[in-house]
Amino acid sequence: MFAVHLMAFYFTKMKEDQIKKVDRFLYHMRLSDETLLDIMTRFQAEMQKGLGKDTNPTASVKMLPTFVRAIPDGSENGEFLSLDLGGSKFRVLKVQVSEEGKQNVQMESQFYPTPNEIIRGPGSELFEYVADCLADFMRTKGLTHKKLPLGLTFSFPCAQTKLEEGVLLSWTKKFKARGVQDTDVVSRLTQAIKKHKDIDVDILALVNDTVGTMMTCAYDDPYCEVGVILGTGTNACYMEDMSNIDLVEGDEGRMCINTEWGAFGDDGALEDIRTEFDRDLDFGSLNPGKQLFEKMISGLYLGELVRLVLLKMAKAGLLFGGKKSSTLLTKGKIETRHVALMEKYKEGLANTREILTDLGLEPSEADCIAVQHVCTIISFRSANLCAAALAAILTRLRENKKLARLRTTVGVDGTLYKIHPQYPKRLHKVVRRLVPNCDVRFLLSESGSTKGAAMVTAVASRVQAQRKQ
Ligand code: GLC
Repeated sequence: MFAVHLMAFYFTKMKEDQIKKVDRFLYHMRLSDETLLDIMTRFQAEMQKGLGKDTNPTASVKMLPTFVRAIPDGSENGEFLSLDLGGSKFRVLKVQVSEEGKQNVQMESQFYPTPNEIIRGPGSELFEYVADCLADFMRTKGLTHKKLPLGLTFSFPCAQTKLEEGVLLSWTKKFKARGVQDTDVVSRLTQAIKKHKDIDVDILALVNDTVGTMMTCAYDDPYCEVGVILGTGTNACYMEDMSNIDLVEGDEGRMCINTEWGAFGDDGALEDIRTEFDRDLDFGSLNPGKQLFEKMISGLYLGELVRLVLLKMAKAGLLFGGKKSSTLLTKGKIETRHVALMEKYKEGLANTREILTDLGLEPSEADCIAVQHVCTIISFRSANLCAAALAAILTRLRENKKLARLRTTVGVDGTLYKIHPQYPKRLHKVVRRLVPNCDVRFLLSESGSTKGAAMVTAVASRVQAQRKQ
């Protein structure tokens, strides 16, 4: 009995020691609420800068008008196609929307691979590939020889002057196809599709994934006016008053703004928050100096941040008896899905041991506890930073409406949010703490971004039909 107590005591003591050690080492990654409120204020200023005509050209947060004004009203119907390019998977989707009293949406979809040669090769080949996949889908589903409206979810910053056009401002995440920047991706895709004589589509909308997510959620919950992606990349959109959007004519009603918050900090605004690990990660990335906020938050980067921390700790003799393995030295070997597995409630510790062993390390029990805590600090920081920017958006919405209390819904999609066991709970909690005067409902939108493009298309074709009447 005494021995059992003694063992429990030693385990608790060892755990506390490991946690303290990691906490000390990652001191700069643990952000207080005071710092988060400060980041929130900085992001509010960035939004204002992006919206202003004179300040927009030098703003790092671009606040792009999306030309999405109307949300689905339930009267949409018909058959729509949607393509989703830029997330963790490339997907083609057919959506059947019918009124039938109750809103009713049926979907059929197909995933296609996006090999690196395609997403980092010549741009023309990327669009040809996308068109080939679309043609394949339409043939398999018996959709040839009929004209269908199509919505394109394209999850990159695009300057739009109308719904069915978008000039790529820059690639982000894993994409770097040549000769696409500064061109209209809708006409590029239309050209490529024309080569397939048996299919006919009409691209009615170009939609960012955040916008798609917001629209999907708005179909189910009319309070939804914000869309957030926490996936390979991170970003948010929200409904802004037209009178505040300098870059678009007109003052009536609202328009959805794609904030492109991933670029927050690209002008140095977050230098005091960024750590040596953030800088190392950035140096080794496809787009150094760009998307600095995203690189502290999203799924493409969290695993790599963990790896860089573990490496430094091992070098300092704080982990694995000071030993490194060649795998641990290799970029990209720890992925966000590993971080999620290591942070699981029950199996987390066993998962950590397995993952570290697969990396060619020989971790002790204490090492596994420490590594788990590294994961927690890094993913917690991610949720905290996202919460700070989101809190800024919610405050802006509340102030726009001149309300003392705001009731709203945020639509969320993305692999990080979906696969990480603790992420949603942490994010919700911090947001509610930062903006106590907002009653926020978070709505997970399954397939939100892809389905949303079809919803936008459905709305666009309804509006088009109404105009023709
Ligand atoms: C990147 C893209 C942005 C997208 C986000 C999530 O930040 O620039 O457009 O919404 O990733 O996919």
